[in-house]
Amino acid sequence: MAVILANSPEAVAQAVKLLLGGGIVALPTETVYGLAAHALDGAACEAVFKAKNRPLEDPLICHVLGIEQAQELAYVSPEAETLMEHFWPGPLTLVLPKKPCVPDSITAGLPTVAMRSPSHPLMRKVLEAAGVPLAAPSANPFGYISPTTAAHVAEQLGDVVPLILDGGPCSVGLESTILDLSNLETPRILRSGPILAETLAPFLKKPLLFKKTVVASGPMVAPGLLERHYSPRCPSSLFVDEAPEDARPHACLFFKKPTNFLKRPHRIVDWLTECGDVELAAHCFYAKLRTLDAQNLKHLYLQRIPGDGLAQVLNDRLERAASFKF
Ligand code: TXA
Ligand code: MG
Repeated sequence: MAVILANSPEAVAQAVKLLLGGGIVALPTETVYGLAAHALDGAACEAVFKAKNRPLEDPLICHVLGIEQAQELAYVSPEAETLMEHFWPGPLTLVLPKKPCVPDSITAGLPTVAMRSPSHPLMRKVLEAAGVPLAAPSANPFGYISPTTAAHVAEQLGDVVPLILDGGPCSVGLESTILDLSNLETPRILRSGPILAETLAPFLKKPLLFKKTVVASGPMVAPGLLERHYSPRCPSSLFVDEAPEDARPHACLFFKKPTNFLKRPHRIVDWLTECGDVELAAHCFYAKLRTLDAQNLKHLYLQRIPGDGLAQVLNDRLERAASFKF
């Protein structure tokens, strides 16, 4: 069973020892918890895929301290460097042409590598002490809801990861924005996230494109763009204003505390925020989904978030979480 350690010099030293020895460790970031391995150690990265039951075709993100370490892994264009200066450390992942030192097992054989510099202080301490880039996908079984606390990681990967560093609940709560800058002519958002497309667009010389999600079938054609992802086990669907009547045990997750709702013995009602603050909603979104998913209900009804910006990023995750749509 995994050991969970809070921030201390000993905890950091223990994590680094495991990582440099080819082991895996769950670490906090400001977005979600990651399952980390030495990024230049192909065998260690393979252990990450195994622990998550992740298809080998789905490449991993490399976490770096900053621009200098990024340049060791990839060919960094001046445009990419400007973005790194503005948005790192933070929730922006850049996909760039990789250098030969990056093992193919991380990139699933692609000629590109995804990199970001996380801002969480405990993650940065580990990166500094390790002195190597760390490959880390979200620390959840493939396809399931991303973890935003150490307890979430322990619940699902506690048997396969020896050490979890507890850095508290993730401040952002949603995965990073992924921007593919491997071709400067066609900058493309591969995953929407906390850094919005409209914030990135002024930094780019060409119009920003968006990748569409795909329905899972056969070999992965577009890594990370699965339509069904970040999903609870309980069947779920989205609603706009009113959750439908349902005689089965079910839950309704509202964006904002509703002023009145139908009280029923077989219905759990919950909400993401009291006041309608989208950032707070993002912060607790995955934790709320997990709690509802653990209740053994027949269905979850999830309310779409009104507005644009971060609200649309949350709607992207809601759509991918929901197995049935209206
Ligand atoms: O916020 C985050 O990005 C978190 C924390 C832990 O940093 N990490 C995360 O990793 O969400 P993961 O593995 O759950 O999602 C990374 C996504 C995957 O969908 C993968 O397909 C995509 O990034 N990806 C990685 N390398 C890529 C590449 N070279 N080209 C295109 N997509 C890539
Ligand atoms: Mg993930």
